[in-house]
Amino acid sequence: MSEGIVTVSYIGATVLFILALGGLSHPETARRGNLYGMIGMSIAMLATIFGVVTGNYALLIGALVIGGAIGFTLALRVQMTQMPELVAILHSLVGLAAVLVGFASFLDPESHFIGVELTIHDIEIYIGVLIGAVTFSGSVIAFGKLSGKIGGKPLTLPARHWLNLILVLAMIWFGVEFVQGSAAGEGLTPLLIMTAIALLLGIHMVMAIGGGDMHVVVSMLNSYSGWAASATGFMLSNDLLIVTGALVGSSGAILSYIMCRAMNRKFIAVIAGGFGTSGGTTVGAEDQGEVVPISAAETAELLVNAKEVMIVPGYGMAVAQAQHIVNEITRCLRDKGVNVRFGIHPVAGRMPGHMNVLLAEARVPYDIVFEMDEINDDFPKIDVSIVIGANDIVNPSAQTDPDSPIAGMPVLEVWKGDTTIVLKRSMATGYAGVQNPLFFKENTRMLFGDARESLDEVLKGL
Ligand code: TAP
Repeated sequence: MSEGIVTVSYIGATVLFILALGGLSHPETARRGNLYGMIGMSIAMLATIFGVVTGNYALLIGALVIGGAIGFTLALRVQMTQMPELVAILHSLVGLAAVLVGFASFLDPESHFIGVELTIHDIEIYIGVLIGAVTFSGSVIAFGKLSGKIGGKPLTLPARHWLNLILVLAMIWFGVEFVQGSAAGEGLTPLLIMTAIALLLGIHMVMAIGGGDMHVVVSMLNSYSGWAASATGFMLSNDLLIVTGALVGSSGAILSYIMCRAMNRKFIAVIAGGFGTSGGTTVGAEDQGEVVPISAAETAELLVNAKEVMIVPGYGMAVAQAQHIVNEITRCLRDKGVNVRFGIHPVAGRMPGHMNVLLAEARVPYDIVFEMDEINDDFPKIDVSIVIGANDIVNPSAQTDPDSPIAGMPVLEVWKGDTTIVLKRSMATGYAGVQNPLFFKENTRMLFGDARESLDEVLKGL
């Protein structure tokens, strides 16, 4: 394949990646966005395999088959709710690849060093390995925390910010040593020491972050993995890898910023660590009074007699896979002339857009699904709000208790409506591990049980 065709293919793939990102920004175009991404990646891989790679095809195809089989099996098996941990472990592989390419590029400059000045190439290697190592170890810890293999409690060492600063300064110092020593063939030791320090920094940074902020960290590591890929592109003089890495890096950074804003957190504060809570189920679970249960039949009656209904889905709807029955109830109520809308919190569930994806899958019409900012002022006009397996995102203590781990996080103000019905299985707390005063309010009714089973009963009642 000629160089010209490779270049054209790379430009085509870049355009498709940009279209993919654009498509993924709305549920209606997300499928198309995914398709663009898949076509772009196929073009990129084919152009690289047939236009850039010059030998070792057996090794390459063997790696592709093994990697593809592992990826395929994981994607088939993973539950939607385990997606963040899968994403975390995949980021770790991008980081590891950057480290390995960096070392290969350093140890065998003949086959990798393509026409840039040696010092610049050394800096590319150093930065690539650094970002890669931080991404790798940080992502492994994030995977451990999200999958419950490591406790969610933040590790807050007394002088942790100073420790981070010392580690960063040490890496800069070894960077100078590396670049100066590299020409004399003495760069390996500083490179190895820096890699160890970067691995330590990645571990320390993510260990210091509490369960409640882990999703911001995953998206931040997503951004790092993009920059690591971009650095790998510089090392290999591969333009497509540079551009694709930059796209992932910048979109990940924007997503992290959006999530921080949604939770009213300062981005730097999350990165510096020490926020969030144990993510357990006991913190603040003290008794706050009596809750009033309600039956499915009574719920159905309240719903048919309402004019305005707001449905607030959360993580529990995903666990119960209740989205299809929610759609049926919505259709039934709309047929009876009830105005049904959905209120979506930006961090409902366990990944960005989690609720939108589930509702789209169940074919809930997009035009009745609203973002929190669009409908939060409407709650005083709502007759019945149904909170389906949501907890933190409707917790009024975010507004009233400055000591709460979720203090300051914007929440859906369901309690301002006439009646709120909360569907959950028990009085257990949600992700942030704090009790919810909403459950004890006078106008709140608790419909206990698995959300899908409860909603099945409600539908029968309707
Ligand atoms: P949570 O606060 O985690 O509450 C979910 C509730 O669902 C729990 O209280 C649980 O109570 C209930 N539940 C679980 N399984 C259920 C089932 N089968 N049927 C009925 N109820 C069930 O969820 P949320 O309100 O959606 O808030 C999201 C939280 O996750 C926030 O703290 C957010 O910061 C965090 N987070 C978000 C993301 C992103 S990006 N979306 C990523 C990671 C973390 P029972 O056990 O009593 O049933």
